[in-house]
Amino acid sequence: MPAYAVIGAQWGDEGKGKIIDFLAANASIVARYSGGNNAGHTVINDFGTFKFHLLPSGACWPHTTNIVGNGVVIDADVLLKEISETQGRLPHKLKLAVSDRAHLIMPYHVVLDQVEEKRRGRDAIGTTGRGVGPAYVDKVARSGLRAGELLNPEDMALRLPDIVHFKNEVITKIYGGTPVSLDEVFAKANRWAAELAPYIRPAEDIVSGALSGGENVILEGAQGSLLDLDHGTYPFVTSSNPTVGGALTGLGIGPRSFGGVAGVYKAYCTRVGSGPFPTELKDATGEMIRQKAKEFGTTTGRARRVGWFDSVAGRYSARVNGFDSMIVTRLDILDGFESIKVCVAYELDGQRTERFPIDAVLLDRCKPVYEEVPGWKGTTSGLTDPEQLPRGARDYISRLEELLGIPTSLISTGPRREETVVMRPLMG
Ligand code: IMP
Repeated sequence: MPAYAVIGAQWGDEGKGKIIDFLAANASIVARYSGGNNAGHTVINDFGTFKFHLLPSGACWPHTTNIVGNGVVIDADVLLKEISETQGRLPHKLKLAVSDRAHLIMPYHVVLDQVEEKRRGRDAIGTTGRGVGPAYVDKVARSGLRAGELLNPEDMALRLPDIVHFKNEVITKIYGGTPVSLDEVFAKANRWAAELAPYIRPAEDIVSGALSGGENVILEGAQGSLLDLDHGTYPFVTSSNPTVGGALTGLGIGPRSFGGVAGVYKAYCTRVGSGPFPTELKDATGEMIRQKAKEFGTTTGRARRVGWFDSVAGRYSARVNGFDSMIVTRLDILDGFESIKVCVAYELDGQRTERFPIDAVLLDRCKPVYEEVPGWKGTTSGLTDPEQLPRGARDYISRLEELLGIPTSLISTGPRREETVVMRPLMG
């Protein structure tokens, strides 16, 4: 079966973009199924360094069609900029289709994201401020605007004044914020309609056509499973479903087309924004990893919180998604450590538990129980051959496999496409 999901297994920023760019060598479609331009997927290949927020990470391959699925929310300004910048650097035509059912992030969503965060004060989620949450709120409230509506300007002209009026009431009267201008929103919508029209279509048909034809399709996750609206550390989560269910609803495909579900795990953990993080390192080791790995957000530039690998959380992600393999990224960052800690259980109110408590308050009370494993001499940086991995690195990976109960398919040893070790082929 030709659909292969590549899903963040932690709190996002696991390095999915690089992995998907690598795998897309053998895929005719890469399809993003959730999130918006809160994501930042870095891809480095012969054409340079790309930071995709909305474009799927197969964008640099001439044979790959990139789908922005119905589950994604789109800031069309960001998407159009990304299309033109990326196209300007590629020698071939970017193949892209945007679902007519994907909801639009409108200027008032961005304002609302920011004023709502301000109101939360100390309880702020630490959102990326890109309007993603408010756009999903409107989708659920059935008052959102979809990309397909851009192609129908008369309808848009009928709906927009009332929507903008109501949003401005909320922005000004509830939050004391600055209203958006209806004229400017109209002008934007008209420009988006003209420039995005060539890409907007029933993109789900392209995906299901490729699946029925037996072509390889990569389902590109954004964010991470622990930020999932249903299965993550609520309320410190994003507003969509990065977990595997999101791929089904976010692209309109069925489970029988799945050939594999791979979880992308960083060799340690990071988290951006607020919320519990049991293995967080607030010490010199954490700072050292942050600097060495340049753990600063691709989208917001914020310093990421850093911690040791958490196998309790990792096992939970594997279960929620049904991962059949793990992809370990940024192994090279752990080169040179005398020893490395892995969280194997939590202590919660004096009791040892290997269960991931989904309640954020309980998770916040969990103290990590660590196992210390030896580090390795020598470097893994840029390696491509499993035989060349230092013994300690192989032992570390084996221990993670044991703790998570899944085998490793790929190991990433650097940011470039080719800096990848294939332990077992992921796609047929
Ligand atoms: P939102 O998705 O902008 O609403 O932010 C909600 C939470 O998800 C915040 O803690 C963000 O920092 C986090 N978040 C959203 N997108 C990403 C991502 O791509 N990587 C890591 N964290 C993210």
